[in-house]
Amino acid sequence: MSAELWNSAAAVLETNWSRDHMVPSRRLYPHQWSWDAAFIAIGLAYVNPTRAWRDLRSLFDAQWPDGRVPHIVFDPRTAEGAYFPGPAFWDVPAYAGRPARGSTGLTQPPLHAIAAWEIYRRAVSHGAVCAREAGEQLAWLYPRLVAQQDYLSRRRDAGGDGLASIVHPWESGLDNSPSWDAALAAVPADMGLLRRFHRRDLEVADAAHRPTDLDYARYLGLVLDYRDGGYADTGLAHRHAFVVECPAFNSIRAAAELALAHIAGVVGADAGTHRRRAREITEAISRRLYDEKTATFRARDVRTRELSAARCINGLLPLMLPDLPADRAAAVLAEAASPRFGLPRDTGLPVPSFDRTAPGFDPVRYWRGPIWINMNWLLRRGMLVHGYRDEAEDLRLAMLRLVHGSGHYEYFHPVTGEGIGAPAFSWTAALTLDLLADRSVPAYARAA
Ligand code: SER
Repeated sequence: MSAELWNSAAAVLETNWSRDHMVPSRRLYPHQWSWDAAFIAIGLAYVNPTRAWRDLRSLFDAQWPDGRVPHIVFDPRTAEGAYFPGPAFWDVPAYAGRPARGSTGLTQPPLHAIAAWEIYRRAVSHGAVCAREAGEQLAWLYPRLVAQQDYLSRRRDAGGDGLASIVHPWESGLDNSPSWDAALAAVPADMGLLRRFHRRDLEVADAAHRPTDLDYARYLGLVLDYRDGGYADTGLAHRHAFVVECPAFNSIRAAAELALAHIAGVVGADAGTHRRRAREITEAISRRLYDEKTATFRARDVRTRELSAARCINGLLPLMLPDLPADRAAAVLAEAASPRFGLPRDTGLPVPSFDRTAPGFDPVRYWRGPIWINMNWLLRRGMLVHGYRDEAEDLRLAMLRLVHGSGHYEYFHPVTGEGIGAPAFSWTAALTLDLLADRSVPAYARAA
């Protein structure tokens, strides 16, 4: 299967390259997405490292002066009508005396330091020329990656507890995860917005596979509120309707600090600060997002201080953190192995996005049940970090079997394994390359 799968994955990445960036999918997502770019760069580095760096640089060229890295960077060559909500809807401010590059004003999980370190690590084994290019790219990216982290620490700690809040479900990357249901229920849904604006996603994907209109009305309302406040982050907990701490977002943020510690070692910066921040974020996740009664990590609504009742795959990602105490890591593994999720040794499949036993489990609807390769890829790294080698290897093989059998889909049915959403999806293809090639312990988790 390896050569065939490798070639099909590489072909997807060739098809989806668009001059200076990769689109996640030609039809459904015809611009550049932030955390997609990070996952994509990790795999693209095997077949075209120059493009992997280019993709990250295109994204960081659109970084805002306050450090935020936008969740979508719009391609000016793509028509406004090809994606909704497009640049006109977001209407981001001109900044630093120049017109803003078309983007959204939201952000996404900061996975890019991990991606940069992964590309660098592979490049240095490919000889002096690659190593020099990689060193230059790292030096360009490092201050931008630090600014990205500083934005999240300084402007997004709405709860004042060391965790970054998301202000929109799109910022989590897990758009309609049940993790947000309780917090979203308090957000007004103006269904009139759906008459004024047209959902382009439903023209190119099955409505049963996408978020509902009710969710969408709330998504649009939240964007309009944030936009009308000039995308400012002061007083968020009091004036914004959705302010939530996500365990996956913050785990990625802490893991990114560990990657930055490695990068700092190459570019001559102080690695110790990054290691200390990683420890602090890990402690805050443990303190604020862990439910002792159920021994699970959950999202927290900053406005109500309540933990979400939903048990979702984002609660498994603190496993990525080497400083997570061993008993907490064991609790995460137990949750993953339980019938709520189910490891490949019992199901033959990677882990679904939501608790299989929950009444709202929906095997086809976006983040409410289907299997996503990116989350399983992160979970596997967590297993390696904490020494669950057999589970990690089972998961790697289950992901590869699934993609080989069903194709490079955006997501997969958690019972039949059928591909759902966009076909020829870039991060599925990119991470497939990485899973085929890389069996090692994640470098960011080793001592810097
Ligand atoms: N994932 C969202 C969409 O479906 C936006 O980031 O369009």
